Amino acid sequence: MTIDVKIGEAGFRPASRISSIGVSEILQIGARAAAMKREGRPVIILGAGEPDFETPDHIKQAAWDAMQRGDTKYTALDGTPALKEAIRTKFQRENHLSFDASEITVATGAKQILFNAMMATVGAGDEVIIPTPYWTSYSDIVQICEGKPILVPCDADSGFRLTAEKLEAAITPRTRWLLLNSPSNPSGAAYSAEDYRPLLDVLLRHPHVWIMVDDMYEHIVYDDFRFVTPLQLEPRLRERTLTINGVSKAYAMTGWRIGYAGGPKALIKAMAVVQSQATSCPSSISQAAAVAALNGPQDFLAERTESFRRRRDLVVSGLNAIDGLDCRTPEGAFYTFSGCGGILGRITPDGRRITTDREFCAYLLEEADVAVVPGSAFGLSPYFRISYASAEADLRVALERIAAACRRLG
Ligand SMILES: Cc1ncc(COP(=O)(O)O)c(C=O)c1O
Repeated sequence: MTIDVKIGEAGFRPASRISSIGVSEILQIGARAAAMKREGRPVIILGAGEPDFETPDHIKQAAWDAMQRGDTKYTALDGTPALKEAIRTKFQRENHLSFDASEITVATGAKQILFNAMMATVGAGDEVIIPTPYWTSYSDIVQICEGKPILVPCDADSGFRLTAEKLEAAITPRTRWLLLNSPSNPSGAAYSAEDYRPLLDVLLRHPHVWIMVDDMYEHIVYDDFRFVTPLQLEPRLRERTLTINGVSKAYAMTGWRIGYAGGPKALIKAMAVVQSQATSCPSSISQAAAVAALNGPQDFLAERTESFRRRRDLVVSGLNAIDGLDCRTPEGAFYTFSGCGGILGRITPDGRRITTDREFCAYLLEEADVAVVPGSAFGLSPYFRISYASAEADLRVALERIAAACRRLG
């Protein structure tokens, strides 16, 4: 969807760099669902990409202490020394990666890290390889930078993972970056060391391709899956890998807006230039809170992940019990990305044929009062995403409603 503004209307003319970018479909569905709720409909919204837990108290306390201390002024441009040190320690402790403080950057969310990195490196016509399904912001950010997203479909048959053959075929002399996200939003799929190896071998053969890795859901992995990040497996890629992470998902801190990355010094410096003219620095108070998150107790992470695992199992089995749906068990994050190809072609009680995942999701919203997001929003159809970071009771009711709505299709 493109921005619906007529040139000249109220004197407003959008810049060409945003003219092909739409307001996120996820936000549109959320807005429609919220409006239905206001009308008194019992809508269950399974669209939000944030944990339903609270930020732990010791983190909130650290923010309060920072305010009391007077840490309420601009900070160093791309992160306080204390936060950079906490991030350095985190990378060492959890990923066995050694970075110097000059190789670390902090921004207002991992989204700004991605934005800074793309703004600093991608010019008109530069290509960024993005396996689909992908987090919607990736391609929009590339387009704002006037780059060209190269979308590579990776469906359920390949475990929603990129293969070496597909990567090799997507690389051209214009390729700037390969963007990888594990565990993935929206598929929940994650790459093991064995999954990454063939991709890293391809990358070693193409020194002009840089690797942007989004490890945002690192801590939310299930069963005996072992999280790894590419740089840990292939130190020879060090001079062209940006390893991105943040506190939003693991520590339930989406509203605090702190993301960070480790990467080559020259890139980190260039990203700081972008940031210096956008936000000056991340919030001083949030940075103090993030120090407490990274340096403080980590035991609650496992408890929270176990709670997500129970909900994942509930949703996966509930969806797979519905005729026409096919849900792969995700290794991580808090999303299912279920196939709905078996539903297409069926007829709604009022005689409409469902031909796309978007129409199926609209049917679920209007007829079953359940808001989910179509795969088309993430670049791969026919699928739909459920965020199961919601109360178990709501998930059970939503699954019953989806099942009943599917039964009503002819
Ligand atoms: C894969 C992925 N990366 C990055 C982000 C952005 O996180 P932040 O809140 O740090 O901007 C999100 C948020 O939904 C995400 O799903």
